[in-house]
Amino acid sequence: MEKERRKPVCLIAAACRGLGIGKDGKLPWHLPSEFKFFIDSITGVSKPGKMNLLIWGTRCWFSTPEVLFPMANTLHVVLSKTLESAPKHAHFLCKDFDSAVLLASQPPLSDVIETIWVIGGVQPYKDALKHPWCDLIYLTDVRATFDCDVFFPEFDKRVFQLQDKFPGVPSEIQEENGIQFKYEVFKKKTDL
Ligand SMILES: NC(=O)c1ccc[n+]([C@@H]2O[C@H](COP(=O)([O-])OP(=O)(O)OC[C@H]3O[C@@H](n4cnc5c(N)ncnc54)[C@H](OP(=O)(O)O)[C@@H]3O)[C@@H](O)[C@H]2O)c1
Repeated sequence: MEKERRKPVCLIAAACRGLGIGKDGKLPWHLPSEFKFFIDSITGVSKPGKMNLLIWGTRCWFSTPEVLFPMANTLHVVLSKTLESAPKHAHFLCKDFDSAVLLASQPPLSDVIETIWVIGGVQPYKDALKHPWCDLIYLTDVRATFDCDVFFPEFDKRVFQLQDKFPGVPSEIQEENGIQFKYEVFKKKTDL
């Protein structure tokens, strides 16, 4: 088998107080500019022809409005142990997280994929945090309380360290619909 080419594995989420991220299969808040930041981040590539691989759990996948597809510069892998084929608009189906990462790191995709973005839900986030290639956590701090039934996993902030500033990420506190939020990026310490 050809050698794997390491790709950065990045998580992206927005979490309110108590790390809540969802309720009844949906986002608990309506923050269009935060959602735009999310889309811009996961579709951003360094040059034309490059793409990102997005890893989705099935609840996230099926709760995403179809109008968002096709999404620029992205290939989508849905994780499921029960589906038998990739759902409409998705490119791949994998039965576990490591197989999805391998897709991006081996031919034919290894030449085109820049970043692997893990966009939820809870189990894909947990798997990503344990993966040796996991580099960055984009975690918007929504500074309000919402009733949630799913939560972003706890992670070690001595390992993933909050960055004061991060390229392309606004560092000021944002406000929309009366809700304050701040884009935060945690980067894995390299000298562990
Ligand atoms: N605030 C945010 O940034 C944010 C981000 C993402 C999600 N959310 C919220 O989170 C909720 C959805 O997340 P969730 O955790 O409930 O569900 P989810 O992870 O999207 O979907 C769960 C399903 O995905 C499949 N799956 C997940 N991990 C897998 C793995 N490692 N291997 C194989 N299959 C896997 C399984 O499908 P099968 O049962 O078919 O095997 C599992 O039942 C929604 O409320 C959504 O709005 C919020």
